[in-house]
Amino acid sequence: MSFFSGRSRSANPDIVAILDVGSSKIVCFIGRQEVEGGIRILGAGFHASEGLRAGVVVDMEAAENSIRHAVEKAEREAGLAISAVYVNVSTRSLRSRHIHVNTEFSNAEVADRDLSRVIDTALSEFSEPDHAILHAIPMNWTVDDERGIRDPRGMFGKQLGVDMHFVTAGVGVLRNLVHCVERCHLRVAGMIASSYAAGVGVLVEDEFDLGVTLIDMGAGITTAAVFRDRTLAFVDAVAVGGRNVTSDIARGLTTPFEAAERIKAIYGSALESPDDDGQMVPCPPMGAQDELHHEPLTLLTSVVRSRIEETFEILKGRFESAGIESFSGRRIVLTGGAAQLSGVAQLAEYTFKKRVRVGLPHGLLGLPDTMSGPDFSVASGIIKHVFEKKHEVISGPPDLSGKRARTRRYAGGNFSKSLKWFRENF
Ligand SMILES: Nc1ncnc2c1ncn2[C@@H]1O[C@H](COP(=O)(O)OP(=O)(O)OP(=O)(O)O)[C@@H](O)[C@H]1O
Ligand SMILES: [Mg+2]
Repeated sequence: MSFFSGRSRSANPDIVAILDVGSSKIVCFIGRQEVEGGIRILGAGFHASEGLRAGVVVDMEAAENSIRHAVEKAEREAGLAISAVYVNVSTRSLRSRHIHVNTEFSNAEVADRDLSRVIDTALSEFSEPDHAILHAIPMNWTVDDERGIRDPRGMFGKQLGVDMHFVTAGVGVLRNLVHCVERCHLRVAGMIASSYAAGVGVLVEDEFDLGVTLIDMGAGITTAAVFRDRTLAFVDAVAVGGRNVTSDIARGLTTPFEAAERIKAIYGSALESPDDDGQMVPCPPMGAQDELHHEPLTLLTSVVRSRIEETFEILKGRFESAGIESFSGRRIVLTGGAAQLSGVAQLAEYTFKKRVRVGLPHGLLGLPDTMSGPDFSVASGIIKHVFEKKHEVISGPPDLSGKRARTRRYAGGNFSKSLKWFRENF
């Protein structure tokens, strides 16, 4: 039961609550759209996460307790109870799929109804076994042989087509996550891929326009998103994060995990420096039989570097094989707690040969200073995404029933809602 379980819950539709369910912490924000514009955070709380690894529930009860604690803190601060939340998805099963569909039409002027029909065709044709759709985004329209059309309405032709971008995740993982949230007496109002949310949280207008790659470096998972022409073009995830760096340090320097975590934050760097030579790092003993010992700083740096470099190389390879590299922009923005590691931005510059910055949440009123670091980018982005204009044609929680797309509850599958989407997005 939530902190406010004995009292009536907020029924105000302008108040939205979100959860960032992470491997190291759970964040809950409760926010409201202000009449004069902007989103105000009314309550914010976070709690160390247990029972979750790389976005996957591995211990239902422990995960439930962690979520409850974070929610209670936010509810207490906001002075109200919540009943529904928007939740991030950061599993290694996150996938991008692009499909192109064409429909014939009567050589007349393209109207809203034609666009809606093409989108409905794309939604019904798309199928990814054991995966549920999180996002469905029209990228480009085609009329006959003309490609890259932003708005085909008013044009004449025989064939109308659309390039659709679908972001999906494994149904099993999503079901467990939804079940865990529901055990906290909260309804899941919607789900968003973590790297998409992080992008919405920290990117600036020029980056969205010109193309940018966002890499969210968490504790258990590193997720990526490519934005182009203000649209989400690609997502991917590698189930490696800051916790792996810490484990490597613990193993490489023969010290307990907790000590390795401190060593990482104090002495850790992803890049060598000429000053490192001869410097030693104090490493607490593994147990009563052991003694405090010292290891060269150069060893620590090489342990940290090799894990992060490997993660970046995996992502780079994925971007290349997806063919996204050529239009993913000249800039990379890093978020997540592990982006705070010294030297990580420079290492990303070397690996990807792009300009790199560390992103911080912006555009939220009343965000506490303690929650304005890169590790709160996902939480900030989820709440912004809920309130902001979207490019998506489906809304609400993903359909986890495993049925074919045709029967799903799509905003795009419903004609009147499709028209609303067109009005809002063009
Ligand atoms: N100053 C720092 N230097 C190096 N690493 C740091 C620093 N601060 C936090 N981290 C690392 O960041 C990670 C936590 O990041 P974050 O809070 O973004 O993860 P999460 O969202 O809980 O997990 P995930 O997204 O992987 O499920 C931890 O591995 C932690 O060691
Ligand atoms: Mg995270």
